Amino acid sequence: MKELKLEEWNENPFKVIGKDWMLITAEKDGRTNMMTASWGGLGIMWGKNVVTVYIRPSRFTKEFVDAGEKFSICIMDEKYRKQLNYCGSKSGRDEDKVKACGFSVEKGDGTVWFKESRLVLVCKKLYSQPMDAAALNDEKLRNAMWKDDVHEMYIAEIEKAFVQ
Ligand SMILES: Cc1cc2nc3c(=O)[nH]c(=O)nc-3n(C[C@H](O)[C@H](O)[C@H](O)COP(=O)(O)O)c2cc1C
Repeated sequence: MKELKLEEWNENPFKVIGKDWMLITAEKDGRTNMMTASWGGLGIMWGKNVVTVYIRPSRFTKEFVDAGEKFSICIMDEKYRKQLNYCGSKSGRDEDKVKACGFSVEKGDGTVWFKESRLVLVCKKLYSQPMDAAALNDEKLRNAMWKDDVHEMYIAEIEKAFVQ
């Protein structure tokens, strides 16, 4: 993979996050786990390039993201849609998702990612905070999305980006 300067990235983040989806990937005690995510954002905070992701406390991946200083965001090609659906419906608590997907783990820059990714963001956690359901103004959304298991928000600096 070759390094990408984010300033030269010319994809649409609404498509990449909302349609392609992300694999939030992290390591804990030598094991890698990942989950599909389609809520998030890319932007600038504290003068840095950041990604924001939202992870419900029930997710096994949350333990992995919480365990270390870094995690990665892997964006996969359309041919991996089956694996993305799998990673968004099965928990690493019950099975070895990396093995089931047949992905190859690459280690570097203090985190892990998958060689099969078409784009990788190496992310360093800067800020995390459980979200407050009472602060969501839209009652319908609150009732539909946040009866319980309310997301924690993570803002992470994008330290490096790689593309195929
Ligand atoms: C398209 C899609 C998007 C998802 N987005 C999120 C998300 O942004 N945040 C979240 O907490 N869960 C999200 N999920 C659910 C997790 O991916 C799912 O619960 C997964 O099985 C968790 O795996 P884990 O227990 O191994 O972490 C999404 C699932 C799908 C299919």
